[in-house]
Amino acid sequence: MAIERLVEPTAKSGDIEEEKIEISLRPTSFKEYIGQEHLKSNLKLAIDAVKKRNDGATLDHILLYGPPGLGKTTMAGVIAHELGASLRVTSGPAIERAGDLASILTNLKDGDVLFIDEIHRLRRAVEEVLYSAMEDYKLDIVIGKGPAARSVRLDLPKFTVIGATTRTGSLAGPLRDRFGIIHRLEYYKEPEIEQIITRTAGILNTEIDPEATKLLATRSRLTPRIANRIFKRVRDYADVNGDGIVDKNMAEESLKLMEIDYLGLDPADRNMLELMEENYGDRPVGLTTIAALTGDEATTIEDYYEPYLLQLGLIMRTPRGRVITEKGRKHLQESKNKV
Ligand SMILES: Nc1ncnc2c1ncn2[C@@H]1O[C@H](COP(=O)(O)OP(=O)(O)O)[C@@H](O)[C@H]1O
Ligand SMILES: [Mg+2]
Repeated sequence: MAIERLVEPTAKSGDIEEEKIEISLRPTSFKEYIGQEHLKSNLKLAIDAVKKRNDGATLDHILLYGPPGLGKTTMAGVIAHELGASLRVTSGPAIERAGDLASILTNLKDGDVLFIDEIHRLRRAVEEVLYSAMEDYKLDIVIGKGPAARSVRLDLPKFTVIGATTRTGSLAGPLRDRFGIIHRLEYYKEPEIEQIITRTAGILNTEIDPEATKLLATRSRLTPRIANRIFKRVRDYADVNGDGIVDKNMAEESLKLMEIDYLGLDPADRNMLELMEENYGDRPVGLTTIAALTGDEATTIEDYYEPYLLQLGLIMRTPRGRVITEKGRKHLQESKNKV
């Protein structure tokens, strides 16, 4: 059985409370969107150019990739807002047939932004329709069946696709090639996470002191979604056990309760590292074996949990599998002493 995780970087779907808060916290403009400066300046430039030309030109298709919780969906909304365009949201798995995509596309208007989340999960047949739509704003459809079938070409409005994915590796080459702007979202810097926590506290009307903000920022896996989630937990803790003000003491106590250690690792991370160390020592172990040991899906480990451990250098990827590093072993030892 996989351990239930607080630091899970995906939005918990079906958790209405969490979804509501997440929407209220979403920045809507470049000004509010903290960090990712390189991405923002590139996008600003592209958007300004489109606006200036004012000749019906549209923004290049944009592919955003990187670990979950870093602000891909949020950025899609910001881009649409900055363009003054409407945003249509869908996802790879939600578009089941080519016909579904055709109806989405024919309902778009000139200048609209179509956000396709988890674009690597598009079905092949759907993907092929998307190619020509993205390339020359044409939709090829077959009408009728058998010998009477004929193919027609429809003109589509000039729209911009924003695709988001946690893995570019599994994106088909031809699809990737149709994006004019491809950008990786990076983990945030700690001061940026502090700014995000301060902003969140403000929106949720909670007082937090700078020391507590700093502390929470070090435990947030450099990921805005996790920072917000941990903040909310600590706020609840301070409501119940104090006067609602989040100070360093409240933050420390509630992090301890959540068993989040000083690197932001939770029990499931440490469990995985421990299993790797106990069973394989310094030898590499395949992803599917790790998954079998922890009870997670291999893709869950690869997309959600491993990127941060790799970023910290606690594990390494080798051609023969993952291996726990010296730093990882040390962290296990240390976290046994201090949490
Ligand atoms: N740059 C940012 N500044 C402030 N908050 C952010 C930023 N990026 C993400 N967030 C917050 O983190 C949450 C998760 O972001 P999201 O765009 O859904 O991530 P992704 O789509 O990459 O998984 C959002 O609800 C938003 O409140
Ligand atoms: Mg998203």
